[in-house]
Amino acid sequence: MRVLVIGNGGREHALCWKLRQSPLVREVFVAPGNAGIAEVADRVPIGASDIVELADFARNLKIDLTIVGSELPLTIGIVDEFHKRGLPIFGPTRLAAELEGSKAFSKDFMRRYGIPTAEASICSSLPEAETALRKGSFPRVIKVDGLASGKGVFIVQSLDEALELVRDIYLTRKFGNAGDRLLVEEFLEGEEVSFMALTDGERVVPFAPAKDYKKAYDDDQGPNTGGMGAHSPAVVLSTEVAAEIMRTIVIPTVQGMEKEGRIYTGCLFVGLMLTADGPKVLEYNCRFGDPETQVQLLRLEDDLADLCLRIARGNLGEARLTWKKEAAACVVVAAAEYPGEVRRGLEITIDPVEDPSTFLFHSGTEMQDGKMVNVAGRVVSACAHAPSLSEALARAYAGAAKVRFDGVRFRTDIGRRALEQLRHKADSSPG
Ligand code: AMP
Ligand code: GLY
Repeated sequence: MRVLVIGNGGREHALCWKLRQSPLVREVFVAPGNAGIAEVADRVPIGASDIVELADFARNLKIDLTIVGSELPLTIGIVDEFHKRGLPIFGPTRLAAELEGSKAFSKDFMRRYGIPTAEASICSSLPEAETALRKGSFPRVIKVDGLASGKGVFIVQSLDEALELVRDIYLTRKFGNAGDRLLVEEFLEGEEVSFMALTDGERVVPFAPAKDYKKAYDDDQGPNTGGMGAHSPAVVLSTEVAAEIMRTIVIPTVQGMEKEGRIYTGCLFVGLMLTADGPKVLEYNCRFGDPETQVQLLRLEDDLADLCLRIARGNLGEARLTWKKEAAACVVVAAAEYPGEVRRGLEITIDPVEDPSTFLFHSGTEMQDGKMVNVAGRVVSACAHAPSLSEALARAYAGAAKVRFDGVRFRTDIGRRALEQLRHKADSSPG
């Protein structure tokens, strides 16, 4: 079959790489892709949000399956557009994607179905936000309602800092309509983990949990990013807690969405905090994670094309996924200023990778005048699998060192805490 992947990140590179291994797949297209994805897929020069053009392309080329990587096309209704034309597509409809597209909707939804999450006030004006902030203690979390490319969440330490921030958001309207409503949320303490599941709206099959490193700098310092590294297994998550997450969060979410007439299909990604009171939802995403997908797909034994096609047809069947016993790790190679405004057009050189278990999935790369340059802050996901997590991390770091450009940087502590947790488990196990 012919498959079209929509997006241009490391996640989409990994998706195309995995789809290419399916005996069902004859051709893989990517719109718009990047310089690295061009090695495993044919690039189509259509933007990820040009949903009518994408549907025209899928119809004209008789694409058998379209997989949407990024959230924006989902929240503006790409799946609805494809359905209208009878074209098979993997991902939630616009109404279902509101789980990610509106934090106010998802908070209300979780309350309606008793899904564990942080307490929050939903505010529609500056006075309401000020009143909410004057009640309760600090730190608190302020979130803009709509999509903000991971830049709309703020942890504030004091009332003064919080008031200044909400005034700035309402008065400058720097988030546009996305900032019309704000959540003032309880700060949760614990370890974060990313939990993904595939669903056809009824049946749900969990992905191997992954750990994402969200903060820009070592020791979880600095601002939030899209993700600076990842590994799977997540280590911090036991099998029992994973089962609890399915029972108390993932399944009630899929069932609740069905009750609301917003049947959810595709990949449901739940960002969780493992608190002393159990796992609680930080956010929903309506798509695969980036960079979580890169490590999960390195471990997935099953045929991704077959799974996604069954979901696009609304019939997942009795799927049970099989994961390599090996661990996988990813180190994101970024531009100096990321997640701030980065310099673009920096020439990138990448030394050859000989190790067959190491993969450099590209994010913001393009070819310009015969040279590879960066066009975004996250540039390459250096990924590897190996029998142990420590070896997978060592190989991923060796891969990251092969990428060079002015100001290149990456976190140097990806997986460190997980390795400590593993050592602790080994020390405390009864021989
Ligand atoms: P979100 O987009 O809602 O996942 O928020 C981005 C990041 O902010 C999360 O990955 C967490 O690191 C942090 N965060 C969000 N909500 C909370 C919360 N209620 N308590 C503590 N940290 C949070
Ligand atoms: N890595 C988190 C995300 O994809 O949103």
